[in-house]
Amino acid sequence: TNAFRIATIPGDGIGKEVVPEGMRVLEAVGRRFDISFQFDEVDWSCETFKKTGRMMPEDGLERFRTHDAVFLGAVGWPDVPDHVSLWGLLIPIRRAFHQYVNLRPVRLLKGTTSPLAGRGPEDIDFYVVRENVEGEYSEAGGRLYRGTEDEIAIQEAIFTRRGVDRILRYAFDLARTRPKKHVTSATKSNGIVHTMPFWDERFKAVKADYPEIRADQYHIDILTAHFVQHPDWFDVVVGSNLFGDILSDLGPAVAGSIGIAPSANINPERDFPSMFEPVHGSAPDIAGKGIANPIGQIWSAAMMLDHLGHPQAAQAVIAAIETVIADAASRTRDMGGKANTAECGAAIASVVAAG
Ligand code: NAD
Ligand code: IPM
Ligand code: MN
Repeated sequence: TNAFRIATIPGDGIGKEVVPEGMRVLEAVGRRFDISFQFDEVDWSCETFKKTGRMMPEDGLERFRTHDAVFLGAVGWPDVPDHVSLWGLLIPIRRAFHQYVNLRPVRLLKGTTSPLAGRGPEDIDFYVVRENVEGEYSEAGGRLYRGTEDEIAIQEAIFTRRGVDRILRYAFDLARTRPKKHVTSATKSNGIVHTMPFWDERFKAVKADYPEIRADQYHIDILTAHFVQHPDWFDVVVGSNLFGDILSDLGPAVAGSIGIAPSANINPERDFPSMFEPVHGSAPDIAGKGIANPIGQIWSAAMMLDHLGHPQAAQAVIAAIETVIADAASRTRDMGGKANTAECGAAIASVVAAG
């Protein structure tokens, strides 16, 4: 198909500044490749919360249940507690729509410099495959003896065999499509005695079905060090919800800027829409200034095009990003340039349009 209905949620802070740039590039690529988008935009955000007491209406999820994808900016603002805003909007979408894979590519794009001396695009090109609906992110647990000196907070981590196996399989299947055919598992079975040994056991069981894939594992602490010192070791890195979260900010930092990092919250069975959003948040420190880097949002749009069955259009967007960042004048400040959000987005859209 060539016509798509996209649920669009700019959200908070720079989400509202970068989502329009993502839409601008999607419109440009659509004209060139004959794809049309109907953007159904909602203002769900912390502002909505302050007006209505909810981050989204009660029937919010139902409204987008049959859309082709969700295109989201960022959620969270300092005047609403983060666990309230995120568990009121972003996390419910991931869960209700069974987006159990969070796929986050890390690539040193042509034209970008890694803060690690002497690294080129051939050294940094891997995926973080993050479990996205269970693990350390859970509502199980509670608070006891609140406000007393005996106060206790208990947070349960939930790892199901179904949930662990399907994310591990996704990682191995992805590795099959890559030249290096290598999967790394993030673990911590030396310190965490129930869930992580279980994760390792399932990793061993699943890898037996993929004899052609090289598989190894590291504890999360040393793995973060290896990301910095040996980013070239990695191809597909699979981790639990929390470990994947941490690794998917560290990876892009090593590749130059968190502002360019994209993510796909994927429902592989396609019985619900998947969601595409940058890795970064609402950046309250720079919001409202028009200086946010729109590339994370635009690259997320490319991942959405891929998911919707238009890989050539996706490739055209990524090529345009590389062309534009090669020119210092079009880079935003986080990448050492002076361009503002709209200038950077418009430059990418015009390269896409020109073909
Ligand atoms: P953040 O990603 O918003 O910002 C971290 C730092 O990176 C800031 O200095 C910011 O200016 C910079 N940065 C981020 N994106 C940038 C961009 N596109 N261009 C240039 N610089 C950029 O992380 P945070 O400060 O931990 O979180 C702020 C809020 O966003 C919190 O409410 C948090 O919960 C929320 N958050 C939401 C998401 C999401 O919606 N997926 C992701 C992360 C954080
Ligand atoms: C991300 C974010 C979210 C997460 C937060 C805001 C709940 O950091 O998308 O990486 O941890 O999943
Ligand atoms: Mn994160």
